[in-house]
Amino acid sequence: MSNFNIRLQNVSKHYVMGSSSIVKALDNFSVNIDHGEVVVVLGPSGSGKTTLLNLIGALENATSGTIHVGTNDISRIKRQKQFTYRRETIGFIFQTFNLFPTLSALENVQYVADLAKIKHSKQKAIESLQTVGLGERIRHFPHQLSGGEQQRVAIARALVKDAPIILADEPTGELDFRTGRQILRLLVEQKQMRKTVLIVTHNREISRLAHRVIELQAGRIVSDGPPKDGTVSIDKLEW
Ligand SMILES: Nc1ncnc2c1ncn2[C@@H]1O[C@H](COP(=O)(O)OP(=O)(O)O)[C@@H](O)[C@H]1O
Ligand SMILES: [Mg+2]
Repeated sequence: MSNFNIRLQNVSKHYVMGSSSIVKALDNFSVNIDHGEVVVVLGPSGSGKTTLLNLIGALENATSGTIHVGTNDISRIKRQKQFTYRRETIGFIFQTFNLFPTLSALENVQYVADLAKIKHSKQKAIESLQTVGLGERIRHFPHQLSGGEQQRVAIARALVKDAPIILADEPTGELDFRTGRQILRLLVEQKQMRKTVLIVTHNREISRLAHRVIELQAGRIVSDGPPKDGTVSIDKLEW
């Protein structure tokens, strides 16, 4: 089986604002994340967490530096290949779910499966929704679902392609901690399927679910290792 190790070397992402001001969203950033790791990216608002996910997911290009994911040099690939790379390699879970409001839960998930040319997409979408505990809700539209259920649809959509890398941007941001725990448990369980999972949060308590926390401040890594106050099981997390 191929590996999808993530290797960032001296990566910077700068935004030019107006004529003179530059925002260094990521500043000479280097990190290695091995295939199959579950990692939390921790940092305050504006520290570069989303930018990091966007670069790994090839939603944006770095200003400088190199990014390898497995054998792909995604800092160099062309737009069309970026699309293929994203489709085949990355499952995104966005903070605000980004569900299509006029599609049912099932259609939201099946749509992504169809884009990824997954065979038997409807059946796969149903199975994926069952995995996240929404087997009874597949005909519901997003507005008929609670926030936690919508987030689970978003997770089912990220899982249906069976992509090796899951990028979750503040997946518990809108949820109470009981619902949040269910979501986090689902994400962490993906390790058993040999997936890499990156969970972004600004909440230090939540970061304790992982054995590795990469902490950001102003576009730089300030620490990388086990959580300072120790890893705790998800059932014990409160925030
Ligand atoms: N498209 C953009 N244009 C200009 N500045 C941006 C853009 N995206 C992000 N930034 C800036 O880059 C920094 C990091 O942003 P972001 O990665 O979204 O941080 P986080 O997800 O940790 O809150 C912030 O200062 C933000 O304002
Ligand atoms: Mg963000």
